[in-house]
Amino acid sequence: MVSSEQARGDGNAAWAARAGAVLPWGAIGTQLPAGKSFVATHGAGSTIYDADGAAYLDYVLGSGPLILGHAHPAIVEAVTRQAALGSHFYALNAPAIELAERIVAAVPCAEKVKFASTGSEATGLALRLARAHTGRDKILKFEGGYHGHGDYAVVAYAPRVPSDYPVGHADSAGVPRAVVDTVLVAPFNDAEAAREIIECYRHELAAVIVEPYQRVIPPQPGFLQALREATAANDVLLIFDEVVTGFRLAQGGAQEHYGVVPDLAAYGKTIGGGYPIAALAGRADLIDLTDPRRRDTDDRYAYFAGTFSGNPLAAAAGVAALDELARPGTYDRLRAVCDRLGHGFRALLAEAAIPAQVLWDGPIMTVLFTATPVTDYRSAQTADPEKMRAWYEGLLARGFLVNPAVQKFYLSTAHTEGDVDATLAAAREIVAEMR
Ligand SMILES: Cc1ncc(COP(=O)(O)O)c(C=O)c1O
Repeated sequence: MVSSEQARGDGNAAWAARAGAVLPWGAIGTQLPAGKSFVATHGAGSTIYDADGAAYLDYVLGSGPLILGHAHPAIVEAVTRQAALGSHFYALNAPAIELAERIVAAVPCAEKVKFASTGSEATGLALRLARAHTGRDKILKFEGGYHGHGDYAVVAYAPRVPSDYPVGHADSAGVPRAVVDTVLVAPFNDAEAAREIIECYRHELAAVIVEPYQRVIPPQPGFLQALREATAANDVLLIFDEVVTGFRLAQGGAQEHYGVVPDLAAYGKTIGGGYPIAALAGRADLIDLTDPRRRDTDDRYAYFAGTFSGNPLAAAAGVAALDELARPGTYDRLRAVCDRLGHGFRALLAEAAIPAQVLWDGPIMTVLFTATPVTDYRSAQTADPEKMRAWYEGLLARGFLVNPAVQKFYLSTAHTEGDVDATLAAAREIVAEMR
């Protein structure tokens, strides 16, 4: 297919020059190495195409939302139908109600849902509700955990210099000191450290927020259960950030998959089927704190609104996506393809005697070149930066696109065993070069 950019003769280089003049780092989203930047023109299934006509097997998948791959026919059909009816109303609409119903039906903690547009908004609302409900200001998060771009969220999400737990520093300028002082930080997967901090700060602590699968690091058995027990015992709320894990690890997300039910859970990415919508789901008594009728009667009333919250176009895409995912056998097939890739990576790295950690649970995967078992942010930092770069650039040069910032592979239902085998063949070449 010839894209409109190619037809106009505008290839990657011309577009990149124009982007460099008007966008920071000349980039949106995935920031590619110098000279490798490309302009995405279209996608189909597991493949994304650029303005020079090159094809990449896509393991970025729009940073995760495209769990059915690019331009899935059911989503294109749902969006086309809704677009003809109107793209936005700022009013109650059928697709948004249907999407909320599907979330409540699938997610163990979800009694009610409040819509937002981005995952950052959903996690920010979760923290506000926790503070409103408990009357306490502090929150506990885990070092390296990503909860979006909000002021609270950017504390200790990617520290360059380790701080002493539970003290954290903002990894962005422009965050008020007063905000940073309310965020406590613990190492992921260390249940004892978290328990101690929760007990010590219980009179000031509103909530613990955790990515149940922290970026590329799986939870150790019992870790999430320990957080649930410690928060419940100390009257502190537990928030799961399921922006990545929701409808990805299972229909009911990480809480179904790992069998731990939080009080609140933030959703984004997958619930929009590739269109921008997010939500906070959870206990009705907490979500209902945003009910404007409480403004004059309940001092725990918490304000939240957004022009595009519950947008019908995105909600229609989300309903179509969740209906596809609900088809019997979908997650089993997805996991089988992922396991083939994960075991394949492990086997060829072992054969080449290159120390590496291949971590995955279903369609979230990474390869970290370190001999150290990776259980938290600091152990992940032991990965050899030269090998990580060679791996990433080797894949890119061979037409395999991976998120360079977190070295994460997302897989979709559109990825085939053939895609996996092609990736493994490329990986074998890269590993041979590394040796
Ligand atoms: C776990 C997690 N939480 C929150 C967010 C923020 O979502 P958004 O980028 O939609 O604001 C992200 C984004 O990558 C995420 O991975």
